[in-house]
Amino acid sequence: MANSKLTQAKAAKNDEFYTQYPDIEKEISAYLDYNPDVFRGKTVLLPCDDPEWSNFTKYFAQNFERFGLKKLISTSYAVESKTYKDGYQLTLFEKNAPQFDQHKSARNGKIFTLTRDMTGDNKVNVEDLEWGYLEGDGDFRSAEVTKLRDEADIIITNPPFSLFREFLAWIVEAGKQFVIISNLNAITYKEIFPLIKNDKMWLGNGFHAGNAYFSTPFAEEYGEGIYNPDTGLVKFRNVCWFTNLDHGKRHQPLPLMTMADNLKFSTHKELKGKQGYDRYDNYDAIEVPFTDAIPSDYEGVMGVPISFLDKYSPEQFEILGTSDRGGDNIPEVDAIRLTKKKMDSCLIDGKKVYKRLFIKRRAN
Ligand SMILES: C[S@@+](CC[C@H](N)C(=O)[O-])C[C@H]1O[C@@H](n2cnc3c(N)ncnc32)[C@H](O)[C@@H]1O
Repeated sequence: MANSKLTQAKAAKNDEFYTQYPDIEKEISAYLDYNPDVFRGKTVLLPCDDPEWSNFTKYFAQNFERFGLKKLISTSYAVESKTYKDGYQLTLFEKNAPQFDQHKSARNGKIFTLTRDMTGDNKVNVEDLEWGYLEGDGDFRSAEVTKLRDEADIIITNPPFSLFREFLAWIVEAGKQFVIISNLNAITYKEIFPLIKNDKMWLGNGFHAGNAYFSTPFAEEYGEGIYNPDTGLVKFRNVCWFTNLDHGKRHQPLPLMTMADNLKFSTHKELKGKQGYDRYDNYDAIEVPFTDAIPSDYEGVMGVPISFLDKYSPEQFEILGTSDRGGDNIPEVDAIRLTKKKMDSCLIDGKKVYKRLFIKRRAN
């Protein structure tokens, strides 16, 4: 396969993952538990959706009244513009609608809106969604969808992964609230990490037991352990929700043992019985290989796995920076570098350690 074809195939595979209803329900419930009025009087935009199929559209339309929403807008990307085109099926809903236009159906994006009772049953729900074609293909970067972004208070979706950086920048430049799905590894991207570090974005409540399930046209290409032929779904452990909406889990401090107790009683063989925690050759910090082994009484800088973010409470810890940033300047990290060379990965006895976040306990 030619190189550009290969890149396209990869993008198609990375972009077509459909979120499951229980996962959306679980995540959104966490924001509502923390603030029951989080959606009251708000306009919610669901871009990068396929409203006829999307569980995001279904979930928010079904809960429109309960959440006290002002307006729900959902948009989709034209089939002809997608890198993956094969799986498209016209729904009867679309075909039988008076506004149906075969040509536009392939080339234009669609917009679904919900604001009021259209069916006369005195309820506002999924039955009252109105739809039409967008002028363009529904690309989130288009002027048309950007205008909808500007109208919205909160943007919620699982965006195409190949455009994640651009998508997040598109939300952040407009100063909107958001709840979006991505791969945890995105946190060290140079456009994304500063948001995490400065508490402008954090991890959401999270998928049940850390497992995110998706349907995808490429499901069967995944191996055992990821693809489940019984459910037809794929399962990933490194997928998370990114948000700037507050939720309760974020304010629960991690229960931790002292350094001495960790060295005596840790369940991790890498620590139990050791004299002390390892120190890096190239950073003035200790290596903490597991989040649950963070010592409660250590005042200095600690290197922890990036999965720590799922347990991060800003009242308990401060995030100073990350390793593996390609020599980027972060003053707090530069301050703990022991070597003049901007050695990126943390090293212990010359051996590279996996990507680390540098954190410090907040003073009580
Ligand atoms: C990861 S899927 C998620 C779909 C849906 N939000 C869900 O969670 O079930 C991302 C969707 O965005 C679409 N997409 C790709 N590029 C896009 C773009 N530039 N603008 C808008 N949507 C795009 C993809 O075709 C795909 O349908």
